[in-house]
Amino acid sequence: MKGKSLVSITDFSKNEILRIVDLAADFEANPNQKLLDGKVVASLFFEPSTRTRLSFETAINRLGGRVVGFSDSSSSSTTKGETLKDTTIMVSNYADLIVMRHPYEGSARFASEVSSVPVINAGDGANQHPSQTLLDLYSIKKTQGTLNNLTIAIVGDLKYGRTVHSLLMAMSHFNPVFHFISPIELKMPDEYKIFLKNRNIKFEEHIEFGETINEADILYMTRVQKERFAEPMEYEKVKNAFILKNAMLSRSKDNLKVLHPLPRVNEIHEDVDNNLKAYYFQQAKNGVFTRMAIISSILGVK
Ligand code: CP
Repeated sequence: MKGKSLVSITDFSKNEILRIVDLAADFEANPNQKLLDGKVVASLFFEPSTRTRLSFETAINRLGGRVVGFSDSSSSSTTKGETLKDTTIMVSNYADLIVMRHPYEGSARFASEVSSVPVINAGDGANQHPSQTLLDLYSIKKTQGTLNNLTIAIVGDLKYGRTVHSLLMAMSHFNPVFHFISPIELKMPDEYKIFLKNRNIKFEEHIEFGETINEADILYMTRVQKERFAEPMEYEKVKNAFILKNAMLSRSKDNLKVLHPLPRVNEIHEDVDNNLKAYYFQQAKNGVFTRMAIISSILGVK
């Protein structure tokens, strides 16, 4: 993994994914390891973020490295017309690693091709969010004891939700059964269904919860991605399509965990928060340990 960019989750092999998951457990047990002394990481966020940016920056600080960058591209020379190519080349002269979030699909791949240092994709449009997926896998392994042979229900915006695209690709190594639950307008794009079919991974599509909650080991809720809709009325039509309430978990499996990449809007009612099956806040905390594992592996210090 040393020197490798992480743009798509498919950039990492099954063994590399498992190594990150194991390493995250090591960092959770020993969170203050000063492995990045003298290293500088650039954190370039062209789109808003709370968890991804702050957990990456916390991870870098815990590892003893330094962070430069911006959380709002309006404070960068992008506003003067500087291209992503020039910005990336410049920043790669300053830092040992770039963490980048950008609204355009393919932007992270492009940046990785012009950068002289590795690039971690912190989310590119509706495409991929691989570091989220690695923390999701760490959360699944931690709560289920295994990644293998699980039934995973994924609910909400399957069209624009980049976290679910990366998640299904990573989980395809572990023989899951997927239930995709969404409004028709937001169903899983064909390219991801073809990916699963080519790997003989079972999936079913649903337009209502039905019995899926009671069959699942993992219930992965997602927000309808308002910022990706061209027409506000189209968002209004689907924004309340799937709302999880505590009573709906009454016949779910004992081992079920409810995950959500967050932020949530209204798709998980607050009455779920105190249910022991709600795991989304711990999931976000796992992001720090997982990102410590990703950064230290790519920089070759662990
Ligand atoms: N899960 C996630 O990407 O959250 P942020 O948008 O707050 O970074």
